[in-house]
Amino acid sequence: MTLWSGRFDTAPDPAAFDFGISFGFDRHLFEDDVTGSLAWADAIKGAGVLSDADHAAIVSALQAILEEGRRDPSFVQGPDEDVHSFVERQLVERVGDAGRRLHTGRSRNEQVSLDLRLYLRRRIPVLQQTLLTLIGTCVDQAEAAGSALMPSYTHLRRAQPVLVSHFYLAHASALRRDHARLAAASAEADALTLGSGAVAGTPYDVDTAALAKRLGFSRVVLNSIDASSDRDFVASFLYAVSLAMVHLSRMAEDFIIFTGEEHGFFELSDAAATGSSMMPQKKNPDPLELVRGKTGRAVGRLTGWLVTMKGLPSGYNKDLQEDKEAVFDAEATLTASLLAAHSVVSTLVTNSERSADAASGLLLATDVADYLVSRGMPFRRAHEVVGAMVRRLLLDGRDFGDMTLTEWREASDLFGDDAPKAATAESSVARKRTPQSTSPDAVRAAIAEYRGWMTGLGR
Ligand code: ARG
Repeated sequence: MTLWSGRFDTAPDPAAFDFGISFGFDRHLFEDDVTGSLAWADAIKGAGVLSDADHAAIVSALQAILEEGRRDPSFVQGPDEDVHSFVERQLVERVGDAGRRLHTGRSRNEQVSLDLRLYLRRRIPVLQQTLLTLIGTCVDQAEAAGSALMPSYTHLRRAQPVLVSHFYLAHASALRRDHARLAAASAEADALTLGSGAVAGTPYDVDTAALAKRLGFSRVVLNSIDASSDRDFVASFLYAVSLAMVHLSRMAEDFIIFTGEEHGFFELSDAAATGSSMMPQKKNPDPLELVRGKTGRAVGRLTGWLVTMKGLPSGYNKDLQEDKEAVFDAEATLTASLLAAHSVVSTLVTNSERSADAASGLLLATDVADYLVSRGMPFRRAHEVVGAMVRRLLLDGRDFGDMTLTEWREASDLFGDDAPKAATAESSVARKRTPQSTSPDAVRAAIAEYRGWMTGLGR
């Protein structure tokens, strides 16, 4: 028995009907569906559709259904087409005709959009908390790294020395944008669809403003046709998740490289690594690789969803049912990836000797050039002079630290006795001046700013 069988002569062909069943996954919307129905019961009572007695019966039955589903998730199953049909069947089984009145003036088209909006507004803050845990770990690691140095890279070639703290905060900065992007997706879902009916609106006098307020929405959708086909908020959510996964994949890649034998800047905890079935020496960064790999899956969900939406005619179309598996899978993928990344990052140990070692040598060339600039030489000229020094040093297999004072003077008479001191990683970072730089003062201020931001969010 479906919600629509009255119009049909024959029972549906299972091959076609089963294909359309969504209860297997939209059961995740159970709570939201009941929440929406409780509010709708109030709204149509207010519109004079439900008597006080019917309203009371519906409300107490819906509350009992909600409680049972919360207590025992296995209650939320059956032969029903979808979660909306399930809740209505349960209701009618309990209160008969009163239950049959609840769907007056309402359509599953607006109901399913409402449910998904409620779901996202409930779940996005949970996702943000998980994200904040990882951001907090990056900040903790930044603090723990103290004055440890490492090279920064461009083109994956050594570029300039930075504090290890600065590197950790770089990843925190990207994740912080994801926090804001998730909030934006939640704000986009913040609109009440009820009152839209199947597509044209509802003939009952429901107070949509009061309904919106009651369900925690700050506004009502602008247009009923648009409301039945709009899933932009789903695309925005999938985009926010995809970009967060892209950031996690980059972080994973950095640590895969930097924990490897060739770099060795960080040591992976045994607890967050795996071994090889054949090669006894291996310590593999599987969790990081899997985070990187699952990014493809999240991006695929976004791409797939955009393709599903493309070219749909106005109003509800069954294609839209595909939104839910995309949302649930993206959410689960990001959550699991955040937890795995947290497990790895929170247990990393900096090998500051190795990382500082890699931050010395010819990557100080820009600092040497800046020294000449401080003595009055135009930068373009200084770049040439230091370029020639680098060429010479490379030929000899030496670096700035190996040069005698006479050699410095030969390169340019602007080099004073203090020139060799300028060519160290410590002085390179200490001489940075801007707030976004790797100067120890700026990094200390950045850590404090992160702490303040997180405290403001109740962490
Ligand atoms: N399961 C459907 C979905 O997820 C619910 C809406 C059904 N509406 C309809 N006109 N068949 O989209």
